[in-house]
Amino acid sequence: MKPLIVANWKCNPQKETEAKKLFNSVINSIKSIKSAEVIICPPFIYLSALKQKSRLGAQNCFWEEKGAYTGEVSASMIKNLSLNYVILGHSERRRIFNETDEVVNKKIRLALKEKLIPIFCIGETQEERDKDETESVLKRQIISGLEDISAPKFINGIIAYEPVWAIGTGNPCDIDESQKMRLLIMKIVSGLYSPSFSKKIPILYGGSVNSANARGYIKEAGFNGLLVGGASLDKREFVKIVKSSI
Ligand code: PGA
Repeated sequence: MKPLIVANWKCNPQKETEAKKLFNSVINSIKSIKSAEVIICPPFIYLSALKQKSRLGAQNCFWEEKGAYTGEVSASMIKNLSLNYVILGHSERRRIFNETDEVVNKKIRLALKEKLIPIFCIGETQEERDKDETESVLKRQIISGLEDISAPKFINGIIAYEPVWAIGTGNPCDIDESQKMRLLIMKIVSGLYSPSFSKKIPILYGGSVNSANARGYIKEAGFNGLLVGGASLDKREFVKIVKSSI
């Protein structure tokens, strides 16, 4: 499995010209790299303007197919733009936009129906970690998020472990601890589906990834890739992350 490096630009940059410049310069710098897959997820509004759709993903989608839902973007709109990936269940969506496990589940089901690859984000908050609830939180998020989704349907799905306390804080998860979390996620997925299935589902790490720690998550902790927020807005830093993952 090639490492998958996903850039999550969140609500940045503010101008289309800046988005084009950043996207084109990243793509240009990594074009000769064949041993890693790189997907960039800009805000929806820039998706049409950016070329190389195979390098693009979406940050979110709605859980209804279409209709009177002001401000929403459907999974089929994303698919019809020739995109393959969509980030779902990001902690910012859960926390700021009140997305519950049920909502995340509906979104994953619809994304799969549209043949999109969901990058399903899970992770515990600082408070849950302090209370020793990490295992039960991850279990609940995985089991509820994948409810009524059979193994064959999720076979191309991706899970991203993003401890909320590590996102945007400059306080990344320790490599050893992240490895334990990866194994725990595999155990939960094994219980839900099967051990052989859990080996096929890529698990990414996200949360204050930078060029100094990226390699450790892949080479030492055994993650199949990374979900990069802040550092993906800095071309040099992001390209270094991609290079250090291979
Ligand atoms: P960060 O964000 O790299 O800025 O911590 C990661 C994410 O939210 O996906």
